Amino acid sequence: MFISSRRLRRCQFLQILATCFVLSLMLMFTQDDNNVVNHIKSYSYRYLINSYNFVNDSLSISRDKSDGTRNYKYLLNNKDKCQNEDVLLLLFVKTSPENVLRRNAIRNTWGNENYIRSRYGATIKIVFALGVDKDPVKSNLFQRDLDKENIKYKDLVQQDFLDTFHNLTLKLLLQFEWVNSYCSDAKFIMSADDDIFIHTPNLVSYLKSMDLIGVQDFWIGRVHRGSPPMRNKNSKYYVSHEMYPWSSYPDYTAGAAYVVSRDVAAKVYEASQTLNTSLYIDDVFMGLCANKMGVVPQYHVFFSGEGKAPYHPCIYNKMMTSHGHLDDIYYLWNQATDPKVKALSSSFWGDLYCKFVNVMLLCRIRYVDTYPCSAAWS
Ligand SMILES: *[C@@H]1O[C@H](CO)[C@@H](O)[C@H](O)[C@H]1NC(C)=O
Ligand SMILES: *[C@@H]1O[C@H](CO)[C@@H](O)[C@H](O)[C@H]1NC(C)=O
Ligand SMILES: *[C@@H]1O[C@H](CO)[C@@H](O)[C@H](O)[C@H]1NC(C)=O
Repeated sequence: MFISSRRLRRCQFLQILATCFVLSLMLMFTQDDNNVVNHIKSYSYRYLINSYNFVNDSLSISRDKSDGTRNYKYLLNNKDKCQNEDVLLLLFVKTSPENVLRRNAIRNTWGNENYIRSRYGATIKIVFALGVDKDPVKSNLFQRDLDKENIKYKDLVQQDFLDTFHNLTLKLLLQFEWVNSYCSDAKFIMSADDDIFIHTPNLVSYLKSMDLIGVQDFWIGRVHRGSPPMRNKNSKYYVSHEMYPWSSYPDYTAGAAYVVSRDVAAKVYEASQTLNTSLYIDDVFMGLCANKMGVVPQYHVFFSGEGKAPYHPCIYNKMMTSHGHLDDIYYLWNQATDPKVKALSSSFWGDLYCKFVNVMLLCRIRYVDTYPCSAAWS
């Protein structure tokens, strides 16, 4: 008892010391767009205090103020997509009008509903979310093609906002609004970019096991902890002080790919109705919504960062997502779903071999943003 309380006091002392150290560092550099300082500030905030109630309070708006700007008209919709089906996973892919080749690649590989149903006995549904091209002439041309594409595949959901980087939060609102209106019974909802590779068989089998234990408050992906807002005006991710005055964002998952359970989707939708949507970084906005509802993300080590995962059967065996695949989607799909991959790791020696290979592939000195080294041991 005596020892533990002394230890406790020592811990508190160290914490105060660390805070003082950080504060003095912050005073030394006052320049606002200094990256290192911003990171120190935000990490120390994240790990010492980690409460974002004031964010919730000051960005909240009343319900009647929130409409008007956000009710964009549907240009294309597929309201019956989920009707009369027991959907395990709704895949929401963020795309743009011109990316038809990417959509076709996805329909033929990891987003192939029929294939996943017949091979893996799971119902997945895929929808592509998009706005309209910012160039009015191109937009008209695209629209004719999109109409045809939608007649053929019945999987496009489009609203009439401009499809630009700074409107990504509108796409996020579209996603949660659509789920809430037309697919609220899907057990899991995944949001993904259109240059992502998703190992749907691995993902579906994992989600089935999560469903069996009745998981709730489920939100997985690659988690950003204690990220600071970018204050450099030249950055694509620049956020002004008026928009977000604090030094760190609540934890959130990278928008490139994350999965939430149905209850979380409902909560995020609810929160999005009463939050100021001017923050255009969509994954950060999602983090604010979740924070408001008390939902925290969990890191899944096989959701990749910016980089492509290494090409190896021992990786395919565990892979969930890999980023930045355009030309090699078909190749990767064939390789990653080859039955030999599962056979390899089902024996004791095969498993040992794969652990060794994965350590070699992932635990490198030179930093490559794919899976963390710890993934090799899991
Ligand atoms: C977002 O879309 C709206 C509606 O089309 C448009 O008025 C606005 O300019 C767009 N914003 C950006 C930053 O592109
Ligand atoms: C949302 O925040 C912006 C600043 O980023 C502000 O100009 C705007 O008035 C706010 N909207 C509401 C409805 O409070
Ligand atoms: C966020 O604020 C709302 C009221 O604006 C409150 O009802 C809710 O409990 C707050 N959420 C958290 C996690 O504190």
